[in-house]
Amino acid sequence: MTTQQPLPSRTGSEPARPSSLSGAARLLDAADARAAARLQTVADARHAARRRLPPVVFDYIDGGADEEVTMRANEAAFAARAFRPRAAAGRLDPSLATTVLGTPLDLPVILAPCGLARLFHPDGPAGAARAAVSRGTVSVLSTVAGSPLEEVMEKAGTSVWFQLYASGGRPQAEALCQGASDAGVEVLMVTVDTPALGNRLRDIRHGVAPPLRIDAHNAVQLGAQVLVKPRWALRLAGTGLRLSRRGAGPGNDGGTGMLTMAASPFSWDDVAYLRDRWRGRLMVKGVLTGDDARRAVDAGADAVVVSNHGGRQLDGAPATLAALPEVVAAVGDRTEVLLDSGVRRGSHVVMALALGARAVLVGRPYLYGLAAAGQHGVERVLDILAAEMHRTLLLLGCPSVEELGPEWVAPAG
Ligand SMILES: Cc1cc2nc3c(=O)[nH]c(=O)nc-3n(C[C@H](O)[C@H](O)[C@H](O)COP(=O)(O)O)c2cc1C
Repeated sequence: MTTQQPLPSRTGSEPARPSSLSGAARLLDAADARAAARLQTVADARHAARRRLPPVVFDYIDGGADEEVTMRANEAAFAARAFRPRAAAGRLDPSLATTVLGTPLDLPVILAPCGLARLFHPDGPAGAARAAVSRGTVSVLSTVAGSPLEEVMEKAGTSVWFQLYASGGRPQAEALCQGASDAGVEVLMVTVDTPALGNRLRDIRHGVAPPLRIDAHNAVQLGAQVLVKPRWALRLAGTGLRLSRRGAGPGNDGGTGMLTMAASPFSWDDVAYLRDRWRGRLMVKGVLTGDDARRAVDAGADAVVVSNHGGRQLDGAPATLAALPEVVAAVGDRTEVLLDSGVRRGSHVVMALALGARAVLVGRPYLYGLAAAGQHGVERVLDILAAEMHRTLLLLGCPSVEELGPEWVAPAG
């Protein structure tokens, strides 16, 4: 039985869904629409993704580094704080609209850059980008997303920002930036927390530790996993499998970056060097201290993202919500501060904004939606977060995201 419950309609432009779907594709699209409508929370999307994907693929999305202490801490940090609601605030219709680096957003939730997103559903990063446009926000295409930037921007235009890994050093970084600039990208996000790859034990146990390759040791194990998920395998055949055959370029690093999963050693000098050459706005993703945030701004960053990569890099790094106030105190008056890692509910977004984030990015939440129901699933996840944010603001007695500040949250501890 369907437990479908409508969510409030969003104000974004119409979904830019491909109009030329064949008969079979239309049926699959309709099945995705029904699957998306059944999701009521991000946790539902996670369960649906788990049912659809081979364990090796689900665990690649879902897992963190080592003992996953930081990954769990990210979510726990939201539960450790409490709101300070204002009762009897009268009739409110809270607005979720904001701007990030001058870009107007209907809701302060951005789709984070995520590698290999093409493997999760044939809609891939292009479908996620179209979902973001349809809900009035933006998405960030990973260097190693598995889809060429041009393909993703075709339907989503300048709502697509580009994330840079530079496993090939400055020459490769410059070439990727040039490609992004030529394609019309306006915002570059430089990820600085990946000098080496985190120790992703779940991937190692599946036999797919980077560099990713299929060999005699893991072929039988992986083959068995794929056989029990034929729907995923059939839909992906001919799309995801093209990953490694494509040429290198922004979003589609078809060479070493894709196969080694892009360890990317950056120095602040490299960031300043890129700043001098990139004509658009530049964000630095992956700072966790006030000192690093200052270094990022000194190197020319227009915004910083407080991120621990969703707990996929340094296990034992602080939860991002705990690190946020220090970063805001250090650079909040000079630059915009965003946060990601562990955001699973609209109330989490509200709490991060109250503590000084301009907006949040989500990674796994939209990947779960994508895996569960393609573009429809990503749209549903954004609708769920928007509806939860709206309700949280009403219950708080807060008229708008612009009004949020630390006085709405009780101190930790
Ligand atoms: C499957 C997956 C792939 C990712 N790939 C990248 C990437 O290519 N570049 C990057 O900067 N961050 C990457 N990240 C980190 C996300 O951009 C983001 O920081 C993180 O997912 C936020 O945490 P959350 O998943 O709890 O929302 C990836 C995350 C996941 C889950």
